[in-house]
Amino acid sequence: MTLFRVKRVDAIAAVADGETLARVLGAGDLILLGIGAVIGAGIFGAIGTAAAGQTLADGTVVRLGAGPALVWSFLLLGGACALAGLCYAELAAMIPQAGSAYAYTYATLGEIVAWIVGWDLVLEYAVGNVAVAISWADYVKTLLTGLGWTLPPWLSTGYRTALLSADPRVHGVIATAPRLAGVPIVLNLPAVGIVAVITWLLLRGAKESARVNAWLVAVKLVALAIFVGVGLFNLHPENYTPFAPNGFAGIHQGAAIVFFAYIGFDAISTAGEETINPQRNLPIGILGGLAICTAIYMIVGAVLTGMVPWRTLGVADPLAHALATAGYTGTGWVVALGAAVSMSAVLLVFQYGQPRILFAMARDGLLPGWAARVDPVTRIPRATTWLTGVVVAGAAAVGDAAETYDLTNIGTLFAFALVCVGVLALRLRDRDRSRPFRVPLVWIVAPAGAAACLFVMAGLPRAAWERFFWWFVVGLLVYAGYGRRRSRLASLGHRTVHVQ
Ligand code: ALA
Repeated sequence: MTLFRVKRVDAIAAVADGETLARVLGAGDLILLGIGAVIGAGIFGAIGTAAAGQTLADGTVVRLGAGPALVWSFLLLGGACALAGLCYAELAAMIPQAGSAYAYTYATLGEIVAWIVGWDLVLEYAVGNVAVAISWADYVKTLLTGLGWTLPPWLSTGYRTALLSADPRVHGVIATAPRLAGVPIVLNLPAVGIVAVITWLLLRGAKESARVNAWLVAVKLVALAIFVGVGLFNLHPENYTPFAPNGFAGIHQGAAIVFFAYIGFDAISTAGEETINPQRNLPIGILGGLAICTAIYMIVGAVLTGMVPWRTLGVADPLAHALATAGYTGTGWVVALGAAVSMSAVLLVFQYGQPRILFAMARDGLLPGWAARVDPVTRIPRATTWLTGVVVAGAAAVGDAAETYDLTNIGTLFAFALVCVGVLALRLRDRDRSRPFRVPLVWIVAPAGAAACLFVMAGLPRAAWERFFWWFVVGLLVYAGYGRRRSRLASLGHRTVHVQ
């Protein structure tokens, strides 16, 4: 039963041993942090694949497109995320600690499930950021091309992308690349560069980064407003017929990929330990940010599928493509610029969240102690910030965006489902504790949230499930080999720690 040892909610604060982060963020900062995390590669990139579907060069249908019924995909996802978001809010307000779903699960479902969630969140944050960095680099290449500049392909393409691509121009990069000791050098340097800049910002401290984020959020909202403003005058009603060309299967499978656009609202809760009055501000930040983003996505989806036929949207830059098709190439360039800025904001929030989850896990003894140290001057977890920067930059240098989107989605949905179950577990285990925010109708909302997440997961392709399975297996091996014995709860020799 030691695998299921849980931390008492009071004990979570006590375990910190004085290594705490500075409380500097308010509700407004959190909403901006949420929008900063949410609006990015999903709405500017994955939305196209969700509308049009995806078929490989050999004719294999990877997923069906939603067509104009994409708005229903967004509504479905908004509902699922709201259910999970309510559960996040209850736990975030009760357990305002760095570590997000990981910390909540430790207090509810026990150590092994917490470890699985923490391990799983690497898929959401670090792997998700690999995808966003690669997408960012793609948009920057498009912007540079618009200015008449072209980067050498071998310095602006990931090796995996070149290897997998059915496009002979992309695949051919490997053959023409310079070689070092016979090994072709094919690197996505812009993707590495943006991760390096973001990591540098974060190393300067959380508040400075939140200020930069506020500016980035303003730019992305303006970019989407320009798109909607121009698009509304260029709608072609015939594009809405048929409205759901692939029926509910298309809506479901479209939702499973464009879920990427929603990932991140939970990142707000990773800032729990740096939030002023978290009991009030965390629920406002999570639900407020989610409501704003759902409304924006439905409007953008409706306008996009009204501007051009849904089948033509399977491109890397669907919003710019729709504007160019309508004759607004210059506006498309401006929106592409906004897309690149938006993705920078996503990168910032995720690069902020991942180190804090690793920090929380290390503080609990599940990862080595050096990862739990806080910088004495900036009060940030410096070692894990560096680690995240180096690993994400390295993977973005050689990785392929498409390979990472589905994996990110499946990992995140699984963590969301566990958070929903965790709320119920804590209601049963710790019934009388004061809850600054209570999920209404929790016995309906929490099971419905978990079921909705599993349902969206079911729309993902088989390859994503296989990769997820192997990630899971490796995680269990790491826990068995390290965390199980090194855990602070294990060293205290208790199944449950009571610190009042
Ligand atoms: N929701 C974030 C994005 O779409 C991950 O880029």
